[in-house]
Amino acid sequence: MNVGISGIGTYLPEKVLHNTDLELTLETTDEWIQSRTGIRERHIAADDEFTSHLAIRAVENLVAKHGAAILEGVDLVIVATATPDAYFPSTAALVQTHFGLKAAAFDIMVACAGWVYALNVARAQIIAGTSQKVLVIGAETFSKIVNWYDRNTAVLFGDGAGAAILEAVPNGFGFAGFYWGADGSGAKYLHAGALGKRLPTGEPLEPFVVQNGREVFKFATRVMPEAILGAVKNAGWELEEVTRIVPHQANARIIEAASERLKLDPNKFIVSIERHANNSAATIPLALEHGINQGLITQGDKVVLVGFGGGLAWSAAALTWAY
Ligand code: UT7
Repeated sequence: MNVGISGIGTYLPEKVLHNTDLELTLETTDEWIQSRTGIRERHIAADDEFTSHLAIRAVENLVAKHGAAILEGVDLVIVATATPDAYFPSTAALVQTHFGLKAAAFDIMVACAGWVYALNVARAQIIAGTSQKVLVIGAETFSKIVNWYDRNTAVLFGDGAGAAILEAVPNGFGFAGFYWGADGSGAKYLHAGALGKRLPTGEPLEPFVVQNGREVFKFATRVMPEAILGAVKNAGWELEEVTRIVPHQANARIIEAASERLKLDPNKFIVSIERHANNSAATIPLALEHGINQGLITQGDKVVLVGFGGGLAWSAAALTWAY
């Protein structure tokens, strides 16, 4: 059986925060942010707008694009998020009840690698026969856990959501290979605390995003090529066959480094960081939708999705685009 993505929808909150707005509150400049990251602006959720609201909006967008029938028969909802509304219930259960779906529901918390992790889990459920149609969402409100006084992190993140439907697709389309991994020894380099006061290794946990940018940069430039190659190998493809790569949008320089390491045409990489920054688990569906809207991803394209980040964790999926 072939499982693929049959539809996608996204949502970005109304409020746009430009780099020049951040110049007013932080010791930073639009020039620094653009040249070091590629980011120009990010969207910020309203005070009373939380991750479940963004997820629901992304599903509404999916329905607006593909028709209401796209939700018919959804029997599992997975939300990848590191910023859930509540410890429980899951954000996925909130989406499930909003749309009146007769479905199981749970969240996956793998930060920036979360959405591709969720795709892997969803596909496995369909192959196993436990589910027929899965709604896989990446949704985040990092603006609520960012330390707005820390220029090292505050400039990097934005809020957003993306939702996709996974189901059986015709032969020759859909997922061909996955690759994933985690290395919790890197927790000290990137984390946001919840109930714990310290990591098991003793480092203090703050209740907001803390990042050692240089260490995570090194990790990202190493693991992104590794994950792409891993997914391509597991798919039985050659790297040259890949037509598009949709990477996590943490830093345009990380994407450039990956294209250099893999000796791949940089034009094969979808880059949308400029307008929405890093949205953690929501980033890849946002970049994917950008690629589709630009006409850069069409039926038959051999696409690799690749995520990396907090955990540390990484995940990649190789798929032939089905619609
Ligand atoms: O999605 C999760 C995965 N996350 C990532 O993949 C992020 C990986 N890391 C990065 O993208 C980059 O390391 C950053 C964008 C976070 C930082 O860029 P960098 O080129 O590695 O800068 P740096 O941390 O080495 O800092 C260089 C200088 C420092 O000043 P000094 O110590 O040289 O005087 C920083 O204090 O830039 C300073 N700096 C800033 N200056 C102006 C750091 N942030 C800012 C800022 N505005 N916003």
